[in-house]
Amino acid sequence: MRLSVIGCGYLGAVHAAAMASIGHEVVGIDVDPRKIESLSRGEAPFFEPDLQELLTAGVASGRLRFTTDMAAASGSSVHFIGVGTPQQKDGYAADLTYVNAAVDALLPYLRPGDIVAGKSTVPVGTAAELAPRIEATGATLVWNPEFLREGWAVQDTIDPDRLVVGVSSRSFLARSTTGDEAHAADILREVYHPAVAKGTPFIVTDWATAELVKVAANAFLATKISFINAMAEIAEVTGADVTQLADAIGHDARIGRRFLGAGIGFGGGCLPKDIRAFSARAEELGRGESVTFLREVDAINLRRRERAVQLVVDALGGQVFEKKVTVLGAAFKPYSDDIRDSPALDVAVRLRGLGASITVTDPAAIDNARRLHPQLDYVEDRDEAIRGADAIVLVTEWDEYRRELTPEHASTLTSGRVVVDGRNGWDAAAWRAAGWTYYGMGRP
Ligand code: UGA
Repeated sequence: MRLSVIGCGYLGAVHAAAMASIGHEVVGIDVDPRKIESLSRGEAPFFEPDLQELLTAGVASGRLRFTTDMAAASGSSVHFIGVGTPQQKDGYAADLTYVNAAVDALLPYLRPGDIVAGKSTVPVGTAAELAPRIEATGATLVWNPEFLREGWAVQDTIDPDRLVVGVSSRSFLARSTTGDEAHAADILREVYHPAVAKGTPFIVTDWATAELVKVAANAFLATKISFINAMAEIAEVTGADVTQLADAIGHDARIGRRFLGAGIGFGGGCLPKDIRAFSARAEELGRGESVTFLREVDAINLRRRERAVQLVVDALGGQVFEKKVTVLGAAFKPYSDDIRDSPALDVAVRLRGLGASITVTDPAAIDNARRLHPQLDYVEDRDEAIRGADAIVLVTEWDEYRRELTPEHASTLTSGRVVVDGRNGWDAAAWRAAGWTYYGMGRP
């Protein structure tokens, strides 16, 4: 099939490359010429495991190309919208500028029978608002939310755990899914043929449900993380160990252990802004009280960053002024170079604000971090970064730190023997046995 993907960021670039890898002819379109130049050369403009290989193969095969020219969308039968929906500068709501601009730019190139598939995370009701403009061209709008995790984006795109397609609410509710909407759902089945063939759940629903599935999923994940972090706060005043607590409750299949990792909390370009946008949308709908808890989820999350900073201060005897602190990690999570709303960088910046001499290291995110926070010192090599440190702080659980950095090895490099484990990623007993003072999050 011929597909266009509008927006070539973390979502769109991966989607375009993944769709080419399963046999489609794909054009990726973005307004950023730098991104397009890099992608056209077959070079990933950001770090994402397996993306580079897919891009190289896709561009070489001739099935994958990139351009800034929207006219290249004409002739594609499905047009995916994968542009960003960041938090508004002066509020909690999502900024839909890019979605609207993408749709407006695409309109002249739509033909009757085309499908526009929205993938961006949008406030419920957005599809219904966009639809009249799109339908006026004879094209059909579906909402096809994306659930990929950064770091696993390629795998999640090619082999997702579910596919959701929202079609026009009117026809869906009237059960008349024999017309354009049934056709649109079938076309999407064809797009995702390998996943459909292996029996991946394929849920056809209305626009509003599809939009809500996405934000509800992220709200649930954020709530799960903040729940365990709230337990960490209680553990901290009772001497309990939140990691054992999580293991124990996680054995209950109804609860499950995943996303019960207590630490400095969630960040990134999705969870934080999605829960805020959801709150804002609920307010607009007169149902703010239904999701008031999301404010608390947000507040718990932000408190954990402060807690990590406090632990470092306490560990260094009550003040960090001119103390050398090495921060292991800058990305909001491992296997990503994304620093959007990164708790790791937030901790680094706050410590620096208290007068500490901060060295940040990260296997992938240093360039991005330096652009945003040039005031911090960055050292690429892990061992060089921790040499002479009074304390080391684990904030992004890359294998290089969590698995490969042993307390014995660290002892040969640092001047102090203090670790603050912001991700509860290390074996506390092993560090203590090697003579370190170990502080975890919600652990004695
Ligand atoms: C999240 C969702 O997991 C995806 O399903 C969704 O598609 C995506 O947002 C999106 O909306 O695009 P992502 O932001 O890539 O994916 O990252 P997650 O793996 O969800 O991690 C988010 C944050 O939570 C990270 O900062 C991570 O360190 C933190 N986290 C995760 C915890 O603090 N504890 C945990 O137990 C798990």
